[in-house]
Amino acid sequence: MFRTLRSVLRFRRFETDPVLRRLARCASVEDLRRLARRRLPGGVFDYIDGAAEDERTARRNVRAFADVEFRPRVLRDVAEVDASTTLLGRPLPFPLVLAPTGFTRIADPQGELAVARAAQRAGLPYTLSTLSTRSIEEVAEVSSGRNWFQVYAWRDKGLLKEMLERAAASGFEAIMITVDTAMLGRRERDIRRGFTLPPKIGPETLLSGLLHPGWTWDFVRSEPITFANVVGRSVGDGSDAVSLADYINGQFDPGLSWRDIEWFQNQWSGPIVLKGIQTVEDAELAAAAGVDAIALSNHGGRQLDGAPAALDLVAPVADAVGDRVEILCDGGIRRGSDIVKAVALGARACMAGRAYLYGLAAGGERGVDQVLEHLGEGVTRTLVLTGCASLSDLGPSGVRFRRGGPDAALPGEPKD
Ligand code: GLV
Repeated sequence: MFRTLRSVLRFRRFETDPVLRRLARCASVEDLRRLARRRLPGGVFDYIDGAAEDERTARRNVRAFADVEFRPRVLRDVAEVDASTTLLGRPLPFPLVLAPTGFTRIADPQGELAVARAAQRAGLPYTLSTLSTRSIEEVAEVSSGRNWFQVYAWRDKGLLKEMLERAAASGFEAIMITVDTAMLGRRERDIRRGFTLPPKIGPETLLSGLLHPGWTWDFVRSEPITFANVVGRSVGDGSDAVSLADYINGQFDPGLSWRDIEWFQNQWSGPIVLKGIQTVEDAELAAAAGVDAIALSNHGGRQLDGAPAALDLVAPVADAVGDRVEILCDGGIRRGSDIVKAVALGARACMAGRAYLYGLAAGGERGVDQVLEHLGEGVTRTLVLTGCASLSDLGPSGVRFRRGGPDAALPGEPKD
């Protein structure tokens, strides 16, 4: 009996670092999401996790990946597999860009700095949001990696011009113009909770704060959260709590049109990515306007509920403009296999936002590292198991829509 027991008993070395201990129990992005949910006050988690109205588009983003399956090939010598690609003319270890996310410091006090450092370690581009809580210059100071700057069209063109100049002076590689936010989508979780940025400490948040002491302790010890790129400017820097809808609807220009793209091209000499393209027609217009890349995106379902899942647009858009612009796909990425599916259908790379925010909230910078490693390893494993030695081995014939196409619904099952 003793010999049998000895042969099967295995004790893991006790991990003394509580963050690593927490992270070691997470095997997937969904596990990190659950951990983030436990660590964050409800309002903060809901701001990150939530989406517009009935959140159908957000759910569909995720489900679209489940509706695509592989056609795995076997006996194809996958002893050496290379997951790398190029994006905007430069090499990438695997096809992922970190998407812009606003107010990242509400997930962790290091906020955008932690994410930029993790992205640089992974060799991936990081897109800093206009509505970031660390400034362009602070990010450039901690990361000399591929930093991109996401721009919203401020009504104040002078401010916009100045931000582009600051991004250029800080060595940012590209700008990403978000074109789906003429006004803010109706985020009903935030409305119900009266959520503001930065989070207001009222009786409800106080209670929630006490129930989430780790987050609250970090939050009160760190310097105040502001919209770091516009501190001290007349547009409001978040030093007074505001609802995002009031801020965006007051400060951003709903009159933005295709004519303005030329204005951006005159201000910015590097690559331009248009984020928020949701039809083949607009993809054609973007290609005709001469941008370098488009991001098929519905803003993680946070803007128009009822917008199509980005993955479903990849193949028709690639058919129409794939030879003229690079195509990014964002929304619902939780696994490396999701990235491989989008690439098989014609995307150059994917973007993920919530995935790394869950990691950041669950375990700070190391949580972001874990997400990026998980996604990268997932891409490689998927290539091996589908019999592809490289991404270029993969094409639309490597996948199929499980239900006969993106428009087909299972009998008796609602489509979203
Ligand atoms: C900001 O862009 C958001 O979607 O909350």
